[in-house]
Amino acid sequence: MGAGDTPSRGRFEKASVRDADVAGKRVLLRADLNVPLADGKVADDTRIRAALPTIELLRDRGAKVIVVSHLGRPKDREPELSMAPVAVRLAELLPVSFDPPHLIENEGIAGPGAAVRVDMMDPGEILLLENSRYEPGETKNDPEPAERLAALAELYVNDAFGAAHRAHATTEGVAHLLPAYAGLLLEREVRELTAVRDDPERPLVVVLGGAKVTDKMGVIERFLDTADELLVGGAMCFSFFAAEGRATGESLVEAAGVELARKALEKAEGGDALLHLPEDLVLGRSFDAETEVRELNGVDVPAGWMGLDIGSNTVAKYRRRVAGAGTVFWNGPMGAFELEPFAAGTRGVAEAVAEAPGFTVVGGGDSAAALVEFGLAESIDWLSTGGGASLELMEGKKLPGVEALMDAKEAGDG
Ligand code: 3PG
Repeated sequence: MGAGDTPSRGRFEKASVRDADVAGKRVLLRADLNVPLADGKVADDTRIRAALPTIELLRDRGAKVIVVSHLGRPKDREPELSMAPVAVRLAELLPVSFDPPHLIENEGIAGPGAAVRVDMMDPGEILLLENSRYEPGETKNDPEPAERLAALAELYVNDAFGAAHRAHATTEGVAHLLPAYAGLLLEREVRELTAVRDDPERPLVVVLGGAKVTDKMGVIERFLDTADELLVGGAMCFSFFAAEGRATGESLVEAAGVELARKALEKAEGGDALLHLPEDLVLGRSFDAETEVRELNGVDVPAGWMGLDIGSNTVAKYRRRVAGAGTVFWNGPMGAFELEPFAAGTRGVAEAVAEAPGFTVVGGGDSAAALVEFGLAESIDWLSTGGGASLELMEGKKLPGVEALMDAKEAGDG
């Protein structure tokens, strides 16, 4: 099925890029090209490839496509966070211009230099702007950079699902200044994730890992009400164990997370969802691939050791739960999978999710990176490009980047 033929426009019935009249028009496309870099090169191009269908749709319909994205969290236009490496990778996939001269001192990324460059564009041409966070007002959602960006274009398309939980000038502010549409990726992300949240095939099994329980508490609370089973792994399980009064040794325990974990345990007592914590662990002396390693049949971590992965019994149990699910939502690794001695838990869950007969959705950069590393990404029904954005949507929060499209179209219609 072609990108433009996806079945339903969902919430974007009146604001899908598929219905926008873009021929010959200057279109400002907000993509999420915030990708990991290593040695000045793109280390994982998943988000770049995910952005292609909308760029291609606009190009094929004769739009002049002005692409803007953030990259990392620059404080002061650090050159190492220039979009240049992204432009190099994007240019391997389709013809794109990246003209750093349009970033002129005191002009920002969308000043007169950029306007002159945009005026020279032909229909079907693609221009990548510099890092949107080189604009000091971007993350504050200042109207001034939003107005300058809007002045470059006639239409706005937001395809940056990964940044939709941010109310920034390029994700929110500019949507109120131009006729605004959802890109194909953003539309599909919202549709797939909302379906899992609101109308999942049962049983719904949610697997949550990662280091910080504070990042996940909203989604844990929500799924304690709505999921059938919640499987917890990753360092965040130590906040739960600390809340149970267990020894955690040198494991990473988030002080602010213990009280939250205690409340979640209380809620789970009377709740509908079954909350599963690990029953065994893999321990190391330190966070290091060369460290001494031992298995622990139990979860009380002795002094001098830290828990760095879930143990084999837990992996087997989690695999069974995932295999029996109608729907699986997975976010966050089960352990320090970047260190081989502690990768088995995350690999086991990744394999189980990849093999699961139910509908599978994975969100979050680390879980997606693990699937790519294990060569399993293709076996997932929907691999979200959003980390924080997918969690906030799952939690039931409104995403400013999505809401702005709903409010903005009418303004654009006028
Ligand atoms: C992400 O990587 O989750 C998004 O691109 C948002 O980035 P941010 O957390 O720096 O806003």
